[in-house]
Amino acid sequence: MSKKKKKKTSKKTPKPKFTAKTADKHALYQLSVQDADYEVGMISRIFKRLRGRKALSVREDFCGTALFCATWVKSDKQRTALGVDLDPGVLQWGIEHNLSPIGEPGNRVKLAQSNVLDKVPGRSDICIAFNFSYWCFQDRPTLLEYFKRAKQALVDDGLFFLDAYGGYESYEPDLEEPRKIDAGFTYIWHQDVMDPINNHVVNHIHFEFKDGTKMRKAFTYDWRLWTLPELRELLLEAGFADVTVYWEGADEEGEGNGVYRPRKSVTNEAGWVAYLVATP
Ligand SMILES: C[S@@+](CC[C@H](N)C(=O)[O-])C[C@H]1O[C@@H](n2cnc3c(N)ncnc32)[C@H](O)[C@@H]1O
Repeated sequence: MSKKKKKKTSKKTPKPKFTAKTADKHALYQLSVQDADYEVGMISRIFKRLRGRKALSVREDFCGTALFCATWVKSDKQRTALGVDLDPGVLQWGIEHNLSPIGEPGNRVKLAQSNVLDKVPGRSDICIAFNFSYWCFQDRPTLLEYFKRAKQALVDDGLFFLDAYGGYESYEPDLEEPRKIDAGFTYIWHQDVMDPINNHVVNHIHFEFKDGTKMRKAFTYDWRLWTLPELRELLLEAGFADVTVYWEGADEEGEGNGVYRPRKSVTNEAGWVAYLVATP
C-alpha cells in the first residue's frame, strides 16, 4: 500500500536537480503525494451533484502547507478557504510558497494555527481531512470529538470529505514501496510498525535522489489504521445523517482510473484509497 498517489499530472513539472542537502521536504511531499487540482475538481463535482449548487467555502483541517486551500481559491474568484494546522512552521512555509506567490486569491485564504479539536469560528460548505491526517486520533472518544467538531464547522447543507486507505497489504509491517517521481527523485512509503491487536501503525516517508543521497524519515506518522465500518459508525454517532464511501474504478489493466463513485459493497484489494462523504 502506497500513501496517496498523484492522480494525474496537469502541468509539465520542472525538473530541478534534487539532493538530500538542498531539497526542501515540504516541496518533495507536495510533488509526491498531493494532487490538489484533482481533489478540488472531484469534491466540487460531488458537492454540485449532491447539493445542486456550487461550493464556495472550504475548511481544510490538517492543512499543512495549505496547497489545497491555494488551489481551491484559484479555481473560482468567489471561493474562500480556511486552513487549520497546529504547526506554525508548516503554515509559514505555506504562506511563503503557496499563498504569497498566487497574488489576490491568496488573500481569500485564512490560516488558523490551532488544534482541530478546538473550536475554530466560522462555518463552511465543505470540510476536508485528507491524507489520513485524522488517524493521529487513535481512540474512539477522541476521533468522535473530532468528527463532532467537523460537523459544527459545516453549514446546514455542507459536506465532510475524508480519505482512508486499506487493503491486505496495509496490514504488512516493514514494507517499503518506492515510486519514481517525475520531478526527478524517488519517494518511499515505509510501513514500519503494524500491530493488529490495536491497529497501531507507524509509517515513514523517505526520499532518495539521483546522486545517491537519501533523506530518511522526512515524515513519520504515528496513527491508528481505522477501517471503513469503524469510521462510518463514528461519523453517524457524531451526528452525521449519512455516510457514503466513494470507491475508485479500474481501467482495462485493472489499475485505478482516478474516477470515484459511491459504492455499497466491493471486493477487497491489495491496497486502496477511498473517500468518505458525510452529510450532516
Ligand atoms: C500529513 S500532513 C497533511 C498535509 C495535507 N493536508 C495533505 O493533505 O497532505 C498532517 C498535518 O496535520 C497537522 N496536525 C497534526 N495533528 C493536528 C491537530 N490535532 N490539529 C491540527 N493540525 C494537526 C500537522 O502539523 C501536519 O501539518
